[in-house]
Amino acid sequence: MSLTLAIIKPDAVASGKTGAILAHLEGAGFRIRCLRMTRLSRTQAAAFYAVHRERPFFDSLVAFMTSGPIVPMVLEAEDAVPRFREAIGATNPAEAAPGTVRALYAESKERNAVHGSDSDANAALEIDFFFSRHERLAVRARVLARGPSPP
Ligand code: RTP
Ligand code: MG
Repeated sequence: MSLTLAIIKPDAVASGKTGAILAHLEGAGFRIRCLRMTRLSRTQAAAFYAVHRERPFFDSLVAFMTSGPIVPMVLEAEDAVPRFREAIGATNPAEAAPGTVRALYAESKERNAVHGSDSDANAALEIDFFFSRHERLAVRARVLARGPSPP
């Protein structure tokens, strides 16, 4: 089992899709190990997406990600990072496979409902970004308490 960092983005939170997306993810076999609602400052959003700072869409992305509350969470599954990216589909919902979260809930390539870590190393950095040491220790305790079979 491994962990990934997911975010329900401002478009999906604002349009009341948080619950549907959480249900979809649990139905797809992801275990929610830590979750909260928060709102990013410009500095925080720019730091989170620093890898994209030279891209033409960066300013617009930061404005979007700070436009309202988001719901970051830690999800556990076997091969959580690649499986989650498969479950959310392509960045552009027009290209996302049918039944994926973005095909179902995203509005556009930018307002695309969810974020998912793109590697185990980035998942660890992103979990550190959103959750305190105390929360991360609690995640580890929940994972250990789970035992060999779900939940
Ligand atoms: P994410 O990091 O949010 O999980 O998305 P991703 O890997 O599928 O896409 P990435 O290339 O990392 O881009 C990060 C986010 O920037 C916005 N974007 N807008 N207008 C555009 O051409 C464009 N391209 C990317 C999206 O919100 C994308 O998820
Ligand atoms: Mg990405």
